[in-house]
Amino acid sequence: MKTSFVTGATGQDGSYLIRKLLSEGRRVCALVRRSSTSNMSRLADLTPGRQENGAELQFVPGDLTDGAGLIGILETYEPDEIFNLAAQSDVRESFNVPELTGNVDGLGTLRLLEGIRRLGLEKKTRFYQASTSELFGDVREKPQRETTPFAPRSPYAIAKLYAYWTTVNYREAYGIFACNGILFNHESPLRGENFVTRKITRGAARIREGLQETLRMGNIDSRRDWGHAEDYVEGMFLMLQQDSPDDYVLATGEQHSVREFLEIVFRDLDYDLVWRGTGVDEKGVDRRSGKTLVEIAPEFFRPTEVNYLCGDSSKAREKLGWRPKHSFETLVQDMLKNDVELAKRERANN
Ligand code: NAP
Ligand code: GDD
Repeated sequence: MKTSFVTGATGQDGSYLIRKLLSEGRRVCALVRRSSTSNMSRLADLTPGRQENGAELQFVPGDLTDGAGLIGILETYEPDEIFNLAAQSDVRESFNVPELTGNVDGLGTLRLLEGIRRLGLEKKTRFYQASTSELFGDVREKPQRETTPFAPRSPYAIAKLYAYWTTVNYREAYGIFACNGILFNHESPLRGENFVTRKITRGAARIREGLQETLRMGNIDSRRDWGHAEDYVEGMFLMLQQDSPDDYVLATGEQHSVREFLEIVFRDLDYDLVWRGTGVDEKGVDRRSGKTLVEIAPEFFRPTEVNYLCGDSSKAREKLGWRPKHSFETLVQDMLKNDVELAKRERANN
């Protein structure tokens, strides 16, 4: 039985990836960091121990800032695979906590790779690094692919740049099977509520149920390539099952603005969203009732913004056979259905 060690297990991607690995019959060691209130909500339905198909799940306490602890875990489990998903992953927040972000997202990756090297696991342990389309930042090419130059625009992206090159360096210097998945934005009903898609589906559903007045948004003209997290963890898994290590972009190749996302979600909730005014005074109004649904709130602007991301994932499609199953439409439906049900439950409990 292969052993997979997953960091970031309690996050969106960790939750989908653990299910995938268990379905593949893996023994999964999932890193969970200490918190004063439970951070296990996305894993609540999973029971640790032996699963029906013979797979096994264990939760392991630890933190990416604790190098000695990580080495202890690697020594104990000698994993065949590490999926390094743990990060301070909020780009806006990284401007507030740049040092922490560098420590977790940058040095955290180094700690794991150095652990592999020091324990002599270079030939045994394969390594996946959660790299990001944020590396392309102030984009130098459209669409962005593996060969597009990087131009990071936030402390988050700069920390991830360090992690990206550390992964490449440990592959080249020590022969570790280490891969970067350069993933474009991927969302789901399990997405954190601070990220824009979930903020919109959750907020709009709450407005519909009378639980919230308006959505206060930042730069709504920003454009992203949004896919479904369920598809993206399939790509992560495939990267570590190849004959040789490499770096791959995962993206849909389809792009929408935040403004379009708002329009689609409110349309699906039977509103007729129209835009009035300009700049920070712009408002999204329901044409029928005259109610203001969207306002611009400058506190959500970023000191430096990434305005445009759209990926070319031809390499992953050709070499890994990766094919996303979800469309943009099914992604929005999946998220909205979940958040409408959540808002209805919330209203019923009020
Ligand atoms: P997420 O939901 O924010 O999850 C982040 C995970 O990292 C959580 O489990 C969190 O634990 C954990 N974590 C944070 N700091 C830690 C620390 N010091 N030690 C150990 N664990 C720590 O992120 P996600 O959307 O699943 O993304 C997974 C990874 O892919 C991240 O590295 C992200 O930067 C990267 N990525 C994401 C996207 C995307 O669109 N989702 C695209 C490209 C790359 P708690 O639950 O305790 O907070
Ligand atoms: N979060 C947020 N909140 N973003 C807003 C808002 C708002 O109210 N209004 C507009 N936006 C814009 C942001 O300025 C950004 O341009 C875009 O919506 C997407 O923001 P997020 O959903 O926060 O995601 P992100 O693109 O910054 O980062 C996510 O994707 C990266 C991959 O490209 C995160 O998951 C990163 O961890 C990931 O690496």
